[in-house]
Amino acid sequence: MKFLFLLLSFFSSVSVFGQKLGVYDLRVEHLENPLSVDAAKPRLGWKISSSLKNTLQTGYEIRVGTDEKGIRSGKQLVWNASVKSDQSVLVPYGGAPLKSKQRYYWQVRVKDNHGNTSPWSSVQYWQTGLQAGDWTAKWIAVAEKDTSSRSPLMRKAFDLKKRVKSATVYVTAKGLYEAYINGRRVGDSYLTPGWTSYRNHLQYQVYDVTGLLQSGANAIGVTLGDGWYKGRIGFNHQRRFYGDTRALLMQLEVAYTDGTKEVVNTDESWLSSYGPIVASDVYDGEVYDARQEKTGWRTVSYTADASWKPVRIIEKGTEQLVGMSGPTVKKHEVFKALKVFKTPAGETVADFGQNLVGWVVLKAKGPAGTKITLSHAEVLDKAGNFYTTNLRSAKAQNTYILKGDAEQSFEPHFTFQGFRYVKIEGYPGEVSPEQLAAVAVYSAMETTGKLSTSNALLNQLQHNIQWGQKGNFVDVPTDCPQRDERLGWTGDAQAFANTAAYNMDVAGFFTKWLKDVKADQHKNGNVPFVIPDVLTPNDAGAAGWADASTIIPWSMYQAYGDKGILEAQFDSMKAWVDFMTSRSKDNLWNTGFHFGDWLFYRPDDDNDGRAAVTDKYMIAQCFYANSVQILINAAKVLGKPDIEGKYEDLLKNIKTAYVQEYMTPGGRLISSTQTAYVLALQFDMLPESLRAQAADRLVQNVRSYGNHLTTGFLGTPYLCHVLSRFGHTNVAYDLLMQESYPSWLYPVKMGATTIWERWDGIKPDGSFQTPNMNSYNHYAYGAIGDWMYRNMAGINQSSPGYKGIVIQPVPGGKLSSVSAELSTPYGSVASAWKIEDGLFKLRVQVPANTKATVILPAPILKSGAETGTTTTVGSGVYEFECRLDK
Ligand code: BGC
Repeated sequence: MKFLFLLLSFFSSVSVFGQKLGVYDLRVEHLENPLSVDAAKPRLGWKISSSLKNTLQTGYEIRVGTDEKGIRSGKQLVWNASVKSDQSVLVPYGGAPLKSKQRYYWQVRVKDNHGNTSPWSSVQYWQTGLQAGDWTAKWIAVAEKDTSSRSPLMRKAFDLKKRVKSATVYVTAKGLYEAYINGRRVGDSYLTPGWTSYRNHLQYQVYDVTGLLQSGANAIGVTLGDGWYKGRIGFNHQRRFYGDTRALLMQLEVAYTDGTKEVVNTDESWLSSYGPIVASDVYDGEVYDARQEKTGWRTVSYTADASWKPVRIIEKGTEQLVGMSGPTVKKHEVFKALKVFKTPAGETVADFGQNLVGWVVLKAKGPAGTKITLSHAEVLDKAGNFYTTNLRSAKAQNTYILKGDAEQSFEPHFTFQGFRYVKIEGYPGEVSPEQLAAVAVYSAMETTGKLSTSNALLNQLQHNIQWGQKGNFVDVPTDCPQRDERLGWTGDAQAFANTAAYNMDVAGFFTKWLKDVKADQHKNGNVPFVIPDVLTPNDAGAAGWADASTIIPWSMYQAYGDKGILEAQFDSMKAWVDFMTSRSKDNLWNTGFHFGDWLFYRPDDDNDGRAAVTDKYMIAQCFYANSVQILINAAKVLGKPDIEGKYEDLLKNIKTAYVQEYMTPGGRLISSTQTAYVLALQFDMLPESLRAQAADRLVQNVRSYGNHLTTGFLGTPYLCHVLSRFGHTNVAYDLLMQESYPSWLYPVKMGATTIWERWDGIKPDGSFQTPNMNSYNHYAYGAIGDWMYRNMAGINQSSPGYKGIVIQPVPGGKLSSVSAELSTPYGSVASAWKIEDGLFKLRVQVPANTKATVILPAPILKSGAETGTTTTVGSGVYEFECRLDK
């Protein structure tokens, strides 16, 4: 028996690991098996595994067809290609024109430079979306004017006469929807259809619902909520920004086994009523009255009572409907309550140990009419009491009214909260931690980066950066997730984009958001402060905010090698640059409103000539130059030489104007701040000969503040990068390891579990910063993550998308080890180092179909002898050593 087991495990390990070459993780437009692809030529990608070092792809074969089983035998193929090429990422589909609402199956195999051919990959698929003309469903709403705060229910019972082979449902809403078929939830996405610039784009989702249907009688039940469409969004209690009528559009396409089809649409045959959701709002939370539940209304056996009325058809059109280009929002980590306790004020509060975004699932049982209220807070005040003043006008409260039956589990449907603590009021009896669970809810992005060090505080910082990202990547990149704001602030997003792309796969997430950047951009090229834009037309055009329109496409191109993003955004990038030019005189952009270096350090007692206040127009001139530089870079990538030439000249003039206006002949800047020097150096504003002295001035400034940073949103992302670039990585480490305010580790020492909006959200004496702007979950300052991956761990690229990799870790900060891993479009890059007995020991992993240049901090030791510091390797795992004291 034991022998048989050994034999079996031998053979199974041969089949898994014995393969020299393999393909895995197939992607279409960055996504896995997407169901609503709009692109005419979707781009396909795969990763390669190899048991041999130095593996490069030399060619690939692809089969695409409409018949899953036939694909292996070459039946019904629409593309069958054998191509000599090393391209394995974003390979454009090259077959026959694609049809709409069709599933395409595909597989790939590759050849390598060692003469191996991989087996065919598993069969994966993508599905094309609906064209505007394919929609036969009609928009439906409640019969009367949609003025109730209650959530409407929409129901349809129908018969399927034959055996169902497959079924796909296409669904979207004005507002938010939650759909059920035969009592079972359609999909596991939340807050759908997601938030876009609704006036320009509305996403629909596609679900394979084959498993939810049955031959014979079926029923669909959908609930609608206000969401961003109709609820409160933006400032001044603004409601109904996009429209006042919640509506549903749903098209269920059923294929029978006999080859015939049936379509079930939203139309005048649907009925509507109201259910238990009495009110729901993104900022304010939800009120759910279980006594109003209509038991079984989403199933066939339900008989509609008199409250059900025929729906109203509304003309809303289908022109703006788009498929998904990013992930939907899903449930992720679940946190148990660590404890439930009484605060000094006598309130009952639960602590989940992590500031997170999502909601609490509550189990409760009690007499009918019992009203339980859950309020949410990020922090407790100095005295240990529940603190919500920093939520401003957001109620962030979920209320459940019991119906008096057995224990029931409650959770909200059309809202979310940012919180670590929950206050429970009205619970019948004692509430125990087991009755509560906090669910983290955010866009379903794959985790791509890991980073850990020998320093526990730094590890907590990395944790906080990741949780700042999770909490604020809820369909759009938001500034904060808790107060009455939660908007797609462009400045915050651009500051954090590079770090975001290390931590998680944000290619789809930003592709989707950038479409709205373009859509909401003003005709004159000006870019709103927030995207989707829910503010006024005047709220646009701030330096470092509007530049999200150039910075993020470029950053995504670097991270994923996706020229398509540059292509799609190029006009928008150029329009923003041209807008700045139109507002400039003599090449100086010194007009308009700017936020400047938002939330920089403001000492109360700064009377010795140092300062952290940076001239706003000086900042604007730097970002102007940077955006022009990015436009030139993009023009190079896309082969637009005319544009390149024209903007090269403009860039020279912008820099000359900067030097004349803001720098003394000796190289001193008119604002003697960290941010001024950081931006001047990061964006190459100064003549070469004056850069080193400027970097020295930056170092002096940091030293004069006792190794503290004083930068705000705009200077912070580049601070350590500039120090490293000019040979001052030791100073960058001094800043990073600084534990007192202002610094990255100060909030960590104060118990933060996310990144704070302000360097001193909680002051050393335990008191709070001003409540009108004091979020404890604001990712901008987490932008240091990019430097940590690039410099501490040393994971960089020499060509976009990590086809060319550079691994160049720089030790410092008294760290004895750092270990990081990044899942790139080619596979995993890893860099782990430790210092032992004066030796720096580095282990790297390089994925197939890439090359890496490895640069050590000192000459590499090979069999005891020293060689150069630099070496180039192909794929595989390698170990290096060098002596650090050299
Ligand atoms: C937001 C910021 C944003 C800023 C603009 C704030 O209210 O929370 O993060 O960038 O306004 O200055």
